[in-house]
Amino acid sequence: MTDGKIGINLTRHVHQEQMEHPEATGELSGILNQIAFAAKIVSREVNKAGLVEILGLTGDENVQGEEVMKLDEFANEVFLNILGKSGHFCIMATEEEAEVIPVPEGHKRGNYSIALDPLDGSSNIDVNVNIGTIFSVHRRVTEGTEGCEQDLMQPGRRIIAAGYVVYGSSTMLVMSTGNGVHGFTLDPSVGEFLQSHTDIRIPEKGKIYSINEGNYPYWTTGVRKYIDFLKEKDKESGRPYSGRYIGSMVADMHRTLLKGGIFMYPADKKDPKKPSGKLRLLYECAPFAFLCEHAGGAASTGTMPVLDVVPEDLHQRVPFFAGSKYDVGQVEEFVRKYDEG
Ligand code: AHG
Ligand code: MN
Ligand code: MN
Repeated sequence: MTDGKIGINLTRHVHQEQMEHPEATGELSGILNQIAFAAKIVSREVNKAGLVEILGLTGDENVQGEEVMKLDEFANEVFLNILGKSGHFCIMATEEEAEVIPVPEGHKRGNYSIALDPLDGSSNIDVNVNIGTIFSVHRRVTEGTEGCEQDLMQPGRRIIAAGYVVYGSSTMLVMSTGNGVHGFTLDPSVGEFLQSHTDIRIPEKGKIYSINEGNYPYWTTGVRKYIDFLKEKDKESGRPYSGRYIGSMVADMHRTLLKGGIFMYPADKKDPKKPSGKLRLLYECAPFAFLCEHAGGAASTGTMPVLDVVPEDLHQRVPFFAGSKYDVGQVEEFVRKYDEG
């Protein structure tokens, strides 16, 4: 006998959500199930990354010109393989591949597109620090059988499901289909994601800032002045803020969603090839912006909501400021005052 406290799993959660929305097609639970399945396989490999050959650099570079580690390739293959054959998607894109990825021959083309960062925080793999997966799903907008880039190049405002998996001290999947943000923790003994966080709400104002401060000399005046301001002592407003930076967006944003505060990757002048910062719109910023807004927080490029940016390039980068509404509003004010005048 149980005491009735066995949690609900991801499948049942999405199913229940769909029963409340009779207009839903039921496909979302299939999509999330397939994502969860791929995440379990990646999680298993991440857990033994320190033990097996899989650890280490392959020597290849990805389309962004960055080193690819073996685990990145593995995660990319697992997600593409499982999602490509799921029957839900008409086209896919990942950080690891320059062009859009069609559904493999012989498999059903579905009604959705998916953009993925299969393994985020890859520089943290070999130091046993949290890494993750990020995804966003759109409904297809083109006609015909094959999907195309247009089905992916939609603003975050039109996302129908987004989320991330964090491979940490435990593996967690956090997602939203537009009805709140919910977290599920993988119970390895039963191989299921069990609901552990219901309706995550970001505190209105936080006490933590998260940014790669080594880039300070390369930021705009507005961003520099904002960071200086956060470090000033002010009892009433709770300043100075604490600094926390892991260097895995998934881990830094996970903390920001739960504890509040602000995560930032602003534009900088470090690399003329990356004038808009480092993070990618489709599979890093937009999904987190969707989660932030649905958790009562905000996400901005400094001048506009990230969700309203209309993508122009599959691997486009945008400046990113996300977290508590108050804090994001404040950085926007600094940008307005010092950078736009
Ligand atoms: P990825 O591993 O998918 O390329 O992403 C790395 C990203 C992100 O996870 C993190 O927020 C950021 O890079 C850290 O960059 P810096 O090392 O420049 O701070
Ligand atoms: Mn990433
Ligand atoms: Mn990545």
